Amino acid sequence: MSTASLHTPPGFQPASRVRGFGTTVFTEFTALALQNNAVNLGQGFPNFPAPDFVKEAAQQAIAADLNQYARAAGHPRLVRALAAAYGPLFGRALDPLSEIVVTVGATEAIFATMQALVEPGDEVILIEPFYDSYPASVIMAGGAPVYVPLRPQGDAVRAVDWALDMDELRAAISPRTRLLVINTPQNPVGKVFTRQELTEIAQLAQTHNLLVLSDEVYEWMVYQDPARPVEHVRMATLPGMWERTITLGSAGKTFSVTGWKIGWAIAPPPLAAAVFAAHQWIPFAVSTPMQEAVAVAMEQTTERDYFNWLSAMYQAKRDRLMHTLELVGLRPVSPDGSYFIIVHTDHLNPPAEPGYRRDFSVCRWFTREIGVAAIPPSAFYSAEHAYLTDSLARFCFCKTDEMLDDAAERLQRALG
Ligand SMILES: Cc1ncc(COP(=O)(O)O)c(C=O)c1O
Repeated sequence: MSTASLHTPPGFQPASRVRGFGTTVFTEFTALALQNNAVNLGQGFPNFPAPDFVKEAAQQAIAADLNQYARAAGHPRLVRALAAAYGPLFGRALDPLSEIVVTVGATEAIFATMQALVEPGDEVILIEPFYDSYPASVIMAGGAPVYVPLRPQGDAVRAVDWALDMDELRAAISPRTRLLVINTPQNPVGKVFTRQELTEIAQLAQTHNLLVLSDEVYEWMVYQDPARPVEHVRMATLPGMWERTITLGSAGKTFSVTGWKIGWAIAPPPLAAAVFAAHQWIPFAVSTPMQEAVAVAMEQTTERDYFNWLSAMYQAKRDRLMHTLELVGLRPVSPDGSYFIIVHTDHLNPPAEPGYRRDFSVCRWFTREIGVAAIPPSAFYSAEHAYLTDSLARFCFCKTDEMLDDAAERLQRALG
């Protein structure tokens, strides 16, 4: 959205905290995909129907006239359902009333957490590539993002993994550091942090008395390869971490309903109370019928074996898109989690666009010339480290098989 208009009052300026924001990478690439009639494997939202039991729960909630403001910290039935679902995963009984805050998607939980915990001038460590609302939320809270990159590992041509350099992380911590954000499974590289890595991060957090925001919205999208067993480890379950960790989840990701915008923060009472203190003055409360629907859906996940179904469904889609990308020589890096695949484009020669990073030019070329939209990963790195992704592009596979096959045909015609 443009912040300047031809008809502004004299001297108008947006507030300094939003002045540098511009538009998100998705605005540009969604428009470009539409203009070029491209298959949009750019923005990560499912384009297939939500499960019937989830939609039926919403229809019933509307029919039941649940139309008025919800309890501000979360509809009682939803916080109870979340406490019941997550208690065993956290290895502790969760108190639905004091340890869970329901938010407008995980995105509002990120914003509310920064407002609640970051003082102006505090530093917040963000691991790159990051979900792009992290730096914006830190900045709007008056904090300063400090970036630590995941670096592609392996030879220069085929990255096989993404490594966090613990010395680099340690060096980024200063007396002003207040909070560290971790995202596992990770968007956009699909890394699932290992227990060992998380334990080392946890030790640093304890040594330096940092709070941790653990964004686990892709918690159910973890893929099992026999040669590479993968385990989603929750930061809050590591020794000494419950007290200092806020864990985020998202109904949008979990039930393929990103437009419902229901998320949650789970944290010990003092941290949850702080997040709530901000949340009550942001949206006050979240849509009542949608919370009821998510509660009813959550209550049914065990009997329906829903989470195993979800990860198997996505794993099949991952393998479908991996197969295409391998076939056309894009050397994809198989993700352990989330619904994104990073590919290598260093052998392609898109027209250079002066002033733009190479991955932006490549993704524009994919969209315009091949008819398949991708996202340039440098959009999720700070200017300082954006060079790391010059030869990479991100595709998502949370799409119908028909759409993935349409993309496959186009990619094969152009590159195959
Ligand atoms: C890492 C990460 N966190 C949070 C979100 C947003 O979640 P929600 O849609 O519930 O706001 C996204 C969405 O893409 C994401 O990738």
